Amino acid sequence: MNLMEAITKRRSIRNYAPTLIPREILDEILEAARLAPSGGNGQNCCYGVVTDEHMKRKLAQAAGGQMWIAEAPVVIAFCANIEYNTANLPEDDFSLAVNRLRYGREMLDYLSGCKDKRGLGIMWANACPLIPGTHITLAATNHGLDTCWIGYLDVAKAGEILSLPSNMACFYLMPLGYAAVEPKKKSTRKPVEEVVFYDKWEAR
Ligand SMILES: Cc1cc2nc3c(=O)[nH]c(=O)nc-3n(C[C@H](O)[C@H](O)[C@H](O)COP(=O)(O)O)c2cc1C
Repeated sequence: MNLMEAITKRRSIRNYAPTLIPREILDEILEAARLAPSGGNGQNCCYGVVTDEHMKRKLAQAAGGQMWIAEAPVVIAFCANIEYNTANLPEDDFSLAVNRLRYGREMLDYLSGCKDKRGLGIMWANACPLIPGTHITLAATNHGLDTCWIGYLDVAKAGEILSLPSNMACFYLMPLGYAAVEPKKKSTRKPVEEVVFYDKWEAR
């Protein structure tokens, strides 16, 4: 399967067969995540591979009771370090400069004063799993496997279930396995004219 075929074929699956995933395929999928790019090559993402039935069910409960997640033979738990805090950075820190350009100095100063350091760390690290996770979805599709992003998650509860240390949080889950039933149709996307513009916005 070439890359565009995998991109086109991937869709969210919400029912899974109990069929196990061959170890070498799982290893390749995790390698695809490990090779993902990250801001400043920070590589701030870790991948929990959850196969224990009881733990999968508890995670599914933490995901608002989306119990079908636990049907998959593997649930990936996307975790990241949450210690990043702009208040602790020297004035010449590169990420501080980047974030000031992105969010504005006023917002950065406001966030630096926020007392909820844990909540702040979670907010800053929220995007870390997105590119590795995308690599996983496509590598999985390449092997005839299915996935679904799970962002509806009680982050604190998931961290407890996974026994994460206090400087880590679990941001997303992703069931990984073989669809029990193929969905009838793919979800639709906006037409290209609505989502692409060339040079200036008004030229759309
Ligand atoms: C960041 C993110 C979080 C998501 N969270 C959930 C979720 O908690 N539960 C769920 O059933 N689907 C979830 N989805 C799947 C989306 O609903 C799905 O990707 C979208 O409807 C498009 O469908 P497709 O993936 O089949 O193309 C999530 C997707 C993303 C990208």
